[in-house]
Amino acid sequence: MKVLIRRAAIQKRVREVAHQITRDFKGQRLHLIGVLKGACIFLSDLVREINLDTSIDFIAVSSYGKGKQSSGQVRVLKDLDSSIEGLNVVLVEDILDTGITLNYLLRILRQRKPKILRVAALLDKPSRRVKPVKGNYIGFSIPNEFVVGYGLDYAERYRNLKDVCILSLPPG
Ligand code: IMP
Ligand code: MG
Repeated sequence: MKVLIRRAAIQKRVREVAHQITRDFKGQRLHLIGVLKGACIFLSDLVREINLDTSIDFIAVSSYGKGKQSSGQVRVLKDLDSSIEGLNVVLVEDILDTGITLNYLLRILRQRKPKILRVAALLDKPSRRVKPVKGNYIGFSIPNEFVVGYGLDYAERYRNLKDVCILSLPPG
């Protein structure tokens, strides 16, 4: 497997993103929502570099089968534990790909009336976008390659890799 982004570069960038979030929400409370399972590693590192009064929650969605292709269908598998009404919310994603998942999540979360709703994503594949959504805090923009590691999986594997790596498999 080919390394795309090394652990040291990830660590440095996560710290920068956390500092940006800290500056943007200075003096306010922050509520992070991690999108399971891919965002769990990114969120864990991010939250420890944020210097604010911060709470966390998780939501689990499924839009992918076991493989690399999106089914285009999003389902909530595990909802939030608590209300987000009136909160400063940052939704934390592993990767922004077609934007279908994020578009759906933003729609359902907006209905719950947060004060602010922003998006942090470790990775962004802008060339793959189907829905016109943008992240507010992006770690890295990457080319159209299927990547694993640092929380990202292929069929639930490779989430534990410390680097973000390109997975090459025969098509289909
Ligand atoms: P979207 O709805 O197409 O934007 O897809 C978002 C979700 O698809 C992410 O949260 C990932 O779980 C998964 N995904 C998209 N691209 C990749 C990839 O390159 N590697 C691993 N998972 C990916
Ligand atoms: Mg996944």
